[in-house]
Amino acid sequence: MERRKIHPEGPEFSRLVAGAWRWHTVSQDTVTKLIQTSLNEGITTFDHADIYGDHGNEEIFGNVLRKDPALRNKMELVSKCGIKFSSDKRPKTWVKHYDTSKEHIMWSAENSLKMLGTDHLDLLLIHRPDPLLNPTEVAEAFSQLKQEGKVLHFGVSNFTPSQFTMLQKFLPFPLVTNQIEISLTRVDSLFNGDLDLLMERETSAMAWSPLGGGKLVGGDREMFSKASKYNASYSQLSIAWLLQHPSFIFPVIGTTKPERISEAAKSIELKLDRQDWFEMLQWATGKEVA
Ligand SMILES: NC(=O)c1ccc[n+]([C@@H]2O[C@H](COP(=O)([O-])OP(=O)(O)OC[C@H]3O[C@@H](n4cnc5c(N)ncnc54)[C@H](OP(=O)(O)O)[C@@H]3O)[C@@H](O)[C@H]2O)c1
Repeated sequence: MERRKIHPEGPEFSRLVAGAWRWHTVSQDTVTKLIQTSLNEGITTFDHADIYGDHGNEEIFGNVLRKDPALRNKMELVSKCGIKFSSDKRPKTWVKHYDTSKEHIMWSAENSLKMLGTDHLDLLLIHRPDPLLNPTEVAEAFSQLKQEGKVLHFGVSNFTPSQFTMLQKFLPFPLVTNQIEISLTRVDSLFNGDLDLLMERETSAMAWSPLGGGKLVGGDREMFSKASKYNASYSQLSIAWLLQHPSFIFPVIGTTKPERISEAAKSIELKLDRQDWFEMLQWATGKEVA
């Protein structure tokens, strides 16, 4: 599996990232297998958020690390903070909202460490742009977490270019990614400046829902002929399409089936012809380029 620094100052990640959003829907044994299969395939980077699985998925993942602590050195852990919603586990929250206060970022990051059974995160992201985000407070929280060695790098998710640029101005170190939705069902970031800004900053996007959350695997007749040409599955073609972008997108795959992790890993080897790439874009948008 290809590895690459997501930003010149790090961290180095596997080009495909395994996302744990849906992992509460399978057994603890399957989660162990998902981790083992990912590592065997060279997918060493795992994407979490404090809220996944009603605030439970980090703990399910952490159970595997608590059983076999040596695994921690073989992987990179990403988590997110900043969304709060009402749940039996969070009885003081009555309305879904964002919280990027220093107090919450610090608490959430430290709680993620506890749940995941680790002493540091490789990357912490602000999950969604918060209209009440105070960049000075975010900078204070990030700086303290970095200084204490609890979080090595920082980034954002679902930010617009102007939100990214604004927050960056207040930070003494680079935001190393913007994790955004990119796939053949969601191509706007190729044209709206999202990827241009990241390229200008020498950093890369992490692409969430690279298969459109599963919508892309059914395929259609044209896709079928393309798949035969490359001797690949629809999902492999869809991931290869993202990998081909010159901004070095890191797709975050979301399957809960170990064998589909292995299937996705093979997409790294596919190189699409430029015309095939554009034909896939044409299917996605329903129109020729101008
Ligand atoms: N930052 C954010 O705001 C944000 C938002 C959403 C997600 N994320 C991250 O992105 C990750 C991926 O999101 P996602 O789960 O929507 O990604 P995805 O890879 O686009 O979709 C995965 C879904 O597709 C299904 N699927 C059907 N056929 C498949 C095949 N051949 N290969 C692989 N999957 C197939 C999977 O089902 P099976 O499980 O049955 O394979 C699963 O339900 C999440 O885990 C999370 O880490 C981030």
